[in-house]
Amino acid sequence: MATDEKQAAKRIAQLREEIRKHDRLYYEEAAPLISDRDYDRLYKQLFDLETQFPDLVTPDSPTQRVGGKPLKAFEQVSHLIPMLSLDNTYSEEEVANFYKRITRLLPNERIPVVIEPKVDGVAVSLIYENGKLRQAATRGDANVGDNVTQNIRTIRSVPERLRDAAPKLLEVRGEVYMDRKGFEKLNDERKKQGLPLFANPRNAAAGSLKQLDPAIVAKRPLGVVLYGTGATEGVDVDVHSEIFPLLKKLGLPATERWWVAQSVEEILGAIHELDGIRHKFAYQTDGAVVKVNSFAQRERLGFTAKSPRWAIAYKYEGERVETRLNDIVIQVGRTGILTPVAVLEPVLVSGSTVGRATLHNNDEIKRKDIRIGDTVVIEKAGEVIPAVVAVVKSKRSRDAKPFDFAKHIDSKCPVCGGPIRRDPEFVALWVELWRISWSNAVWCASHSIFSS
Ligand code: IVH
Repeated sequence: MATDEKQAAKRIAQLREEIRKHDRLYYEEAAPLISDRDYDRLYKQLFDLETQFPDLVTPDSPTQRVGGKPLKAFEQVSHLIPMLSLDNTYSEEEVANFYKRITRLLPNERIPVVIEPKVDGVAVSLIYENGKLRQAATRGDANVGDNVTQNIRTIRSVPERLRDAAPKLLEVRGEVYMDRKGFEKLNDERKKQGLPLFANPRNAAAGSLKQLDPAIVAKRPLGVVLYGTGATEGVDVDVHSEIFPLLKKLGLPATERWWVAQSVEEILGAIHELDGIRHKFAYQTDGAVVKVNSFAQRERLGFTAKSPRWAIAYKYEGERVETRLNDIVIQVGRTGILTPVAVLEPVLVSGSTVGRATLHNNDEIKRKDIRIGDTVVIEKAGEVIPAVVAVVKSKRSRDAKPFDFAKHIDSKCPVCGGPIRRDPEFVALWVELWRISWSNAVWCASHSIFSS
């Protein structure tokens, strides 16, 4: 190796260590030491040196996070252990029944359970072999998922190598998410570019992960939060609650808050406490998951046909508030689909002021008998765009006006005046514009089906 190459190798090693350190401070400890600008400077130095000395590029270099080429399709990979889902409930009584059931199944035993956030993202499995990230996959049909390793590598909070004494095999499971700020920024940019907007952060994360070109994924503000393990070898843990500190020790982003409980009262207490703080997390949550802590007890409880007997997901109701529906307007999507939208008396829901809500389609307006001037209940759950869930009929005034979608649009697009046709396949209403694109149309059709 020539002297300048030797020097470059030394500097490259230093820069990589430095960048990894700042990644860790930024993503794991939320305590960055340097500005984004200084970080970018370090990164550029490394990138330039590696361009000058391509032989010194290694796959685990921070610059290689976006190194992959666009794929034609995702490879299908089998999960080492199926990625099952959980029974969901909105009822506290069912949570109590869950705990009573397991205490009946394991009589005379203490059964501690863990309560943790139910993250509203996209489920993924990451496999580390001897401390190196080998594979990342989506859940797919629970047995076989998409190999999304290239895309996951672009997420800076996912380490390429684990810290400390890494086990021989560690499969970790969790959710990919997009934080709210990143989501809003992305949608703002898409709006400017005239691209269809993502309905909520989960859709945006799912859409990003499905991209075949990792360079696009690298520009999306994604994060990962991990809540459990799958297949492991050399991991000496026999209760679930020990997994969180273990993941943290290895440098992996794990669930930040969890509770251990041993009675129905404690479980419900933890569920309420979580509800009070969950809006502060960077990721979206839609519930609490209650899991038996001991792996040995889990094994004895086993599974039903589709889900484990040792866990249940409790989903929080979306926040609901009443307000007046002042008007209904028709919105024309980029794809040409017409969607009725409620113009509301502005009201505060889940921390933001809401002035509009989707009415989905004409059938919904008819089914719920929504009239202009009505007092309506709106709900903001996982969706960022709130929905009108019901009319408060007892508060209806005599002059509340019914709304006739078909008459209103009069076979012409209310915005461009273009002709309108109904598509029998998607039962949606289209404005015939040159810019209709079929892939977008399908995406949109599910949100605004019209079939009167
Ligand atoms: S545990 C066998 N824990 O919600 C149980 N899942 O229907 C494996 N999810 O499939 C899942 N947060 O995609 C678990 N803290 C959490 C979770 C969580 C979100 C997802 C996951 C799962 C679905 C449950």
